[in-house]
Amino acid sequence: MTIKTICVVGLGYVGLPLAAALSNNFLVIGFDVNTSRIKELQQGKDSSGEFSSGSSHKDTLMYTSDPIKIRAAHVVIVCVPTPIDDQNKPDLQYVESASVIVGQNLSPGTVVVYESTVYPGVTEEICIPLLEKNSGLRLGEGFKVGYSPERINPGDKEHTISKVVKIVSGSDEQALEIIDWVYSSVTTTHRAPSIKVAEAAKVIENIQRDLNIALMNELTLIFDKMNINIYDVMKAAGTKWNFHPYHPGLVGGHCIGVDPYYLTFKAKQLGYDSKVILAGRTINDAMHQFYAKKILQRLSAAKSQTVLMVGLTFKPDVPDYRNSRIKFLIEELQHHKVEVYAYDPFVPPGVVEKEFRASWRSPTDNLSTIALVIIAVEHQNIKELVQRGVFAGNEVVTLRDLATKK
Ligand SMILES: NC(=O)c1ccc[n+]([C@@H]2O[C@H](COP(=O)([O-])OP(=O)(O)OC[C@H]3O[C@@H](n4cnc5c(N)ncnc54)[C@H](O)[C@@H]3O)[C@@H](O)[C@H]2O)c1
Repeated sequence: MTIKTICVVGLGYVGLPLAAALSNNFLVIGFDVNTSRIKELQQGKDSSGEFSSGSSHKDTLMYTSDPIKIRAAHVVIVCVPTPIDDQNKPDLQYVESASVIVGQNLSPGTVVVYESTVYPGVTEEICIPLLEKNSGLRLGEGFKVGYSPERINPGDKEHTISKVVKIVSGSDEQALEIIDWVYSSVTTTHRAPSIKVAEAAKVIENIQRDLNIALMNELTLIFDKMNINIYDVMKAAGTKWNFHPYHPGLVGGHCIGVDPYYLTFKAKQLGYDSKVILAGRTINDAMHQFYAKKILQRLSAAKSQTVLMVGLTFKPDVPDYRNSRIKFLIEELQHHKVEVYAYDPFVPPGVVEKEFRASWRSPTDNLSTIALVIIAVEHQNIKELVQRGVFAGNEVVTLRDLATKK
């Protein structure tokens, strides 16, 4: 089989860089149901900030919202969101809807690869039946399937697709050969023995990270009571060859704080109640309360109960504000009658007011009524504001300062 055309379904933080990388070797159809996303990409813009203007625009990469275009692809790669609902249960609606759309437009002989983070079993138990039902084709005879988890790290310009090993798996040997060959054109691959192993590998990468951060967060809570600076402790302990440098803080975003719930959900279905994994989640999800308490302590002798929260997205140098824990920090402060103004160079004023329920304030406005400027997310351009002395007339703290200074 000659693989010439690949369709990437879902052009977000994961799908767009992948589509652009593959377009160096293949004809790539980028498909997304979000028509405004397609429009901006067609104009050479990328609001996710993963590409500088125009660099995702090539002759071998076309963008479309027309599902019929999927029929031209020899390989279809699905990169749609896998969030959790408000009860922390997996929300598989996007993976399911993408499977329906791909199934309805599946040409015989196509290989469908899933990249979205899921619990072991989703590809085989949920996606394949939807592909079969909507295409009228049978797995093995009519089409093949694989799973290859994404390891993209938004905002990280070092660990880009070509520099990170990609796990590949397939529904049979031939599927694995094809999938491995496609991904080998952009990076090094590792063959997992089954789709379930590949799914499990991805989910535990983020669980391990979540738990290690939870440990540092718990140590922060304990050492705070002992008047011990956690960062001094980490520096000292870090002199041992096998100590791993995880940092305390707020855990937001779509991966680390979300993926553990995928595995614990499946474990519960199978009759096992997770203990360690959920304990880590509980600690990380409550850390905004610790930082709020520290801010309240600082405000106790202040001239006003007004603060400016600077930096709102879920991590530094990334414009994505969805699943940001700063929202909960603001809410907690407001609950204690603190007036919160907020600013982030990546977040438009309207979004600040609607999503973060705080009044937008430019750092260049008169800040004389602000008792405390909290640098909650240290974007490079926020560090530059600090260096330029924009907050020179105010007391300024970072979350790290709050965790260490009394
Ligand atoms: N962002 C990360 O850091 C990261 C890293 C590794 C893995 N992942 C995983 O990759 C997957 C995608 O994440 P993301 O951050 O790129 O999401 P995203 O929200 O940035 O983008 C997803 C895109 O999919 C589109 N979409 C939704 N349903 C669709 C459908 N039925 N058909 C076509 N397009 C559809 C959306 O319009 C959106 O443009 C998730 O499972 C996530 O857990 C994300």
